Amino acid sequence: MADGFNVGIVGAGTIGQVHSRALERIPNARVVAVAEPREEAGRALATATNAVWYDSFVDMLAHPGLDVVILGTPSGLHPEQSILAAGAGKHVITEKPMSITHDGATRMIEATDRAGVRLAVIFQNRLSRDVFKVRRAIEAGLVGTPIFGTAFVYWMRTQDYYDANGGWRGTWALDGGGVLINQSIHMIDALQWLMGGVASVQAHVATLGHRIETEDAGAASVRFTSGALGAILGTTASKKDHPTKIEIIGSEGRVVLENNAVSFWEGTAELSDDLLTDDDRRLVDGWKPDESFGEGHLRQLTLIFDSLAAGEEPPFPGREARRAVDVILGIYESARTGQRIDIARI
Ligand SMILES: NC(=O)c1ccc[n+]([C@@H]2O[C@H](COP(=O)([O-])OP(=O)(O)OC[C@H]3O[C@@H](n4cnc5c(N)ncnc54)[C@H](O)[C@@H]3O)[C@@H](O)[C@H]2O)c1
Repeated sequence: MADGFNVGIVGAGTIGQVHSRALERIPNARVVAVAEPREEAGRALATATNAVWYDSFVDMLAHPGLDVVILGTPSGLHPEQSILAAGAGKHVITEKPMSITHDGATRMIEATDRAGVRLAVIFQNRLSRDVFKVRRAIEAGLVGTPIFGTAFVYWMRTQDYYDANGGWRGTWALDGGGVLINQSIHMIDALQWLMGGVASVQAHVATLGHRIETEDAGAASVRFTSGALGAILGTTASKKDHPTKIEIIGSEGRVVLENNAVSFWEGTAELSDDLLTDDDRRLVDGWKPDESFGEGHLRQLTLIFDSLAAGEEPPFPGREARRAVDVILGIYESARTGQRIDIARI
């Protein structure tokens, strides 16, 4: 790592390629290895990055000088791959969801702690200047007492999307669910952070527009730890992608975030940049409201590699990223059992 980090990308699919493009623009990291069982995809990404292709992740871990692995694999594989990488002394950067079970997430945290390596989870949408400003505004009481916090994700995913690359998406075993754990998790993560944590959920799920095992529509009623209430709605059965929406209403104001940018603000004071701490500014540096897919990965990966170089905790650590997983697992359990689920006991 003397002149930067040697990185192995695991999974040469959609997001593996996003990571690889981002890494081209990160001076202190370079791709040296690609692990991918699909030979054509693996070789193509390895050639594009001047790296070595491995058909086996375990073999890739023995690549000379490898420092970091990035997991862009089906979500259900993240815990075992993280634990193996940590055991081999590699830092782990994993895509969301970090795990499809609470136990898997906990084992990842424990394994990386034990090995003295870092675990960072990608949640590029949370790294928005506006999301941070809204969080600080709520903390400062600028919307008064929070009453409702809601998150809506209405996106379109084709049947082909679910059938691609072995058809792992929309399965319980590898996706861990459907639209809630794969797509809506970004907004669920942001909402739970903005509102200060979820206490309990009560939910319904349905499969309305695809041939998949898991849900493509989910609706949950939420009680936050503050006592505020809320709702989460997510679907991939919409005709097109609509902007994601988070709306918070309090006794003194209301704020709406669309695609992580504030589209409406009413509070007891301006929603000013002065609300941000120095740490916040560092995390959201370079964010712009209309950022395209991939730019958020570049910003988060830059922060992660800078943190690794400085020996600091990179954003977002496993304990933080597990919160959204727990909320979603609570939603699934509620939908299955018809019961209200306390998130603390997930
Ligand atoms: N942050 C985001 O916005 C974002 C966007 C898309 C996907 N993701 C996440 O990225 C992960 C991958 O999703 P995707 O859409 O890129 O899927 P994908 O199917 O396009 O890519 C996954 C790749 O992993 C490969 N793979 C399967 N088993 C493997 C193994 N044992 N070792 C190495 N490679 C293996 C597959 O062959 C495939 O090429 C998921 O966890 C998903 O939730 C995150």
